[in-house]
Amino acid sequence: MDRILGALDQALRTLFAQPRSTRACPVVPAEATHLGAQERQHAAALMRVNHVGEICAQALYTAQAMATRNEVLRRQFNEAAREENDHLAWTKARLDELGARPSLLNPLWYAGAFGLGLVAGRFGDPVSLGFLVETERQVEAHLQGHLERLPAADHASRAIVAQMKADEATHAHNAQAAGAVELPPPVKAAMRAAAKVMTTTAHYI
Ligand SMILES: [Fe+2]
Ligand SMILES: [Fe+2]
Repeated sequence: MDRILGALDQALRTLFAQPRSTRACPVVPAEATHLGAQERQHAAALMRVNHVGEICAQALYTAQAMATRNEVLRRQFNEAAREENDHLAWTKARLDELGARPSLLNPLWYAGAFGLGLVAGRFGDPVSLGFLVETERQVEAHLQGHLERLPAADHASRAIVAQMKADEATHAHNAQAAGAVELPPPVKAAMRAAAKVMTTTAHYI
């Protein structure tokens, strides 16, 4: 019961509270960001997608922390969730700076990711960890794509995305070291397809 209430509290906080980071937002102090209207709109769409990704990360880690019976692993999930919360705060702050709103479908993304996290958790820790490793790797590749697509002049968004990418790689590495199994290729492909739906939709809505 405690854990269910904790998860509900976490969900409401993620969706409706202003996220606060524990680490300062990465910036490139020497380079101010000046964008034209079109660049600004393009950057905002990409950062909205990244914000959705971090909403999903909160849901996944909360669900998986809830699903595991291993205390050490739960602490590791919660630790990663704290770093993901920094990402959530940074991407939200950047969206605010760009004068853009987050995805209107965030409650839906959260619920979907939470459900997936619980399902992964039911298969046991090695599979749950394998799911995390694959998720983090796909996010890392996706962020690399954004570093190529973000306006060259958008130093502010780039600094955030670069730090996120480095953190996601660490999360994947940690989950691997904790005993993840490799997921079968069709599962990875299904995950990529689901992520594609999410990123394509969040670009606009
Ligand atoms: Fe993240
Ligand atoms: Fe991550």
